[in-house]
Amino acid sequence: MTALVTGASSGIGRAFAVELARRGTDLVVVARRRDRLEELAKELSDVNVEVLAADLSDADQLAVVEARLTDPERPIDLLVNNAGFGTAGPFHELPIGREDEEIRLNVLALVRLTRAALPSMVARGQGGVVNLSSVSGEQPLPGWATYAASKAFVTSFSRAIAAELKGSGVKVLNVLPGFTRTEFQDHGNFGQHFIPGPVWMTAEQVARKSLKALDRGRSELVPGIQYRFVALMTRLSPWPLTRLVLRGATRKMW
Ligand SMILES: NC(=O)c1ccc[n+]([C@@H]2O[C@H](COP(=O)([O-])OP(=O)(O)OC[C@H]3O[C@@H](n4cnc5c(N)ncnc54)[C@H](OP(=O)(O)O)[C@@H]3O)[C@@H](O)[C@H]2O)c1
Repeated sequence: MTALVTGASSGIGRAFAVELARRGTDLVVVARRRDRLEELAKELSDVNVEVLAADLSDADQLAVVEARLTDPERPIDLLVNNAGFGTAGPFHELPIGREDEEIRLNVLALVRLTRAALPSMVARGQGGVVNLSSVSGEQPLPGWATYAASKAFVTSFSRAIAAELKGSGVKVLNVLPGFTRTEFQDHGNFGQHFIPGPVWMTAEQVARKSLKALDRGRSELVPGIQYRFVALMTRLSPWPLTRLVLRGATRKMW
């Protein structure tokens, strides 16, 4: 079995790679920081690890990863679409280049890689795709407009293809983590300073729970009971109420 994991140089993606290797799965690890990926390959010496350094927001580099996924000689059994980042702040003040990159990575790359991986999985009648969404995509999120919208896309897209592929032997799992300690928070103000310690998940918990959910054939997972409660409340709350609550919260931040 071989898995291709995007964003394997840190955080949740790295934890997926470590857990998959522990299960004896060979890996193709993708991210921009080649040195980190090579270190990881050395650490996971019990399995074959192929390092594929690529910026997935760049069309030409993305095409190289798509080509790897469609290589008939070296089939990929599991695709983990994990690479992603978020921008935070009032949308009209955020640099448009970074918003554009966020959509290319969180949305376009995920769609293109999934499209590249699925045909051979469907033909073989087995395989899996894990997409990293977020509880923040459950409703519009003022202050994180593009990020939350990108994750709403991931959830909608994942649910649709999971339904299309039911009975095909190919599993699709949509994972919606809440606050998870990784390098993600280094890239923006995600309100992390207001979040008490016990509420946080670790990347290892998210990866392990996700792979267990995939084993069980589940199509959606919110890791951690605290975030299952958050997701439920968010899904039940009408948008006018959510908007009122969020307006107060975001005013404290900016
Ligand atoms: N942490 C949280 O609280 C949280 C909550 C909900 C959902 N998520 C989602 O979980 C996923 C993983 O995030 P994380 O928390 O593990 O963050 P992280 O520690 O910052 O890791 C992000 C990974 O994505 C890679 N990456 C970023 N830009 C890339 C690009 N242009 N091309 C290729 N790879 C790129 C990074 O590697 P390089 O820099 O080496 O390219 C890194 O390996 C994301 O999709 C995120 O939205 C995170």
